[in-house]
Amino acid sequence: MTHHLALIGFGTVGQALAEILRERGKMLQKQGLDIQVNAVSDPLKGSLYHPEGLDLNLLLQAEKRGHLDFYPERDGLQRGWNSFKTIEDTDVDTVVEVSYTDIRTGQPAIDHCRRAFQSGKNVVMTNKGPVALAYHELSKMARDCGVDWKYEGTVMSGTPVIRTARSALVGNEITEIRGIFNGTTNYMLSQMEEGVRFSEALESAQSLGMAEADPTSDIEGYDVLYKVMILAQVVMGIPVDRDKVIRKGIRDLSPEMIRQSLQEGKRWKMVGSIKKNGNECQVAVQPVLLSLSDPLSGIGGAMNGVTFVCDLAGPITVVGAGAGRRETGYALLSDLIHLIREEENDGIRGEETIIRQDALERREKVD
Ligand code: HSE
Repeated sequence: MTHHLALIGFGTVGQALAEILRERGKMLQKQGLDIQVNAVSDPLKGSLYHPEGLDLNLLLQAEKRGHLDFYPERDGLQRGWNSFKTIEDTDVDTVVEVSYTDIRTGQPAIDHCRRAFQSGKNVVMTNKGPVALAYHELSKMARDCGVDWKYEGTVMSGTPVIRTARSALVGNEITEIRGIFNGTTNYMLSQMEEGVRFSEALESAQSLGMAEADPTSDIEGYDVLYKVMILAQVVMGIPVDRDKVIRKGIRDLSPEMIRQSLQEGKRWKMVGSIKKNGNECQVAVQPVLLSLSDPLSGIGGAMNGVTFVCDLAGPITVVGAGAGRRETGYALLSDLIHLIREEENDGIRGEETIIRQDALERREKVD
């Protein structure tokens, strides 16, 4: 069965997903995954909807020419629908939410999720704001509406962090999570180890395109703050008050301090950590001196890594990219594949170990 998508936002990440679907379409079909893009809505690039699907080549070509108005005319093609009309009035299964969203408010992505769930549509997304700030409300709403909500790419892009914790490590109690969740600061600290000054290291990170538009979010730890808020909630089930988290940036670290610590067998890293304490957790985002034997201390440059401290399996570290166009596009693809497979599996979400009421009811009828 074909799975129909509406892309809300057609910036870097939305385009990356479209390219991946174009490249992998045949391979996915061989695996029984027929994924079709039916709608795209972007406030700057324009909007398209066709119930029979959009041609990905023509879509990407139109974007390259600067606007989706360059997509060729065709019977039944709708243009100019805004994000909310696209979410509500298109006949699609899943909304891919990749809009330009204000991380401090989570908008408009939070409202996009609400509207999608109320319209009976699943959402996959990479925007951190909605998961960090409205996890409880949105996950309940998705459940009540009988739809799915996935957001693997919000933490460490295509590196499976949320899925590893929720699915692969199932059966453990995860008592602590600590990680390097920001490529910009990790890259800068690696550069500073080589004697590069703070300002030059930042410029270099900006020129490589890894820093946020406003690098304060990276340098002062806000980007990591949202990621640890997501993990505390989705992995440990504990809500976190943004204002109560200890948060300190890397501005006070100098190349001299960093090199001195190395001689003493320690390395400064910008670490986000969550320690479970009964029904509460202690969350901190700050530079930490790690021993060189800690797997996180060996993660250099723009790479990210996370250690899950599990009561049965012990500490387990996952290392990989934390950002990037293709990597984040892949995170969306992985969410879509899991979502489709779980739907085929009659609504049983192994990943979240949630058995939907409606699936149970259907089974009872069959039995
Ligand atoms: N600016 C972020 C980083 C991008 O450097 O890791 C991913 O959130």
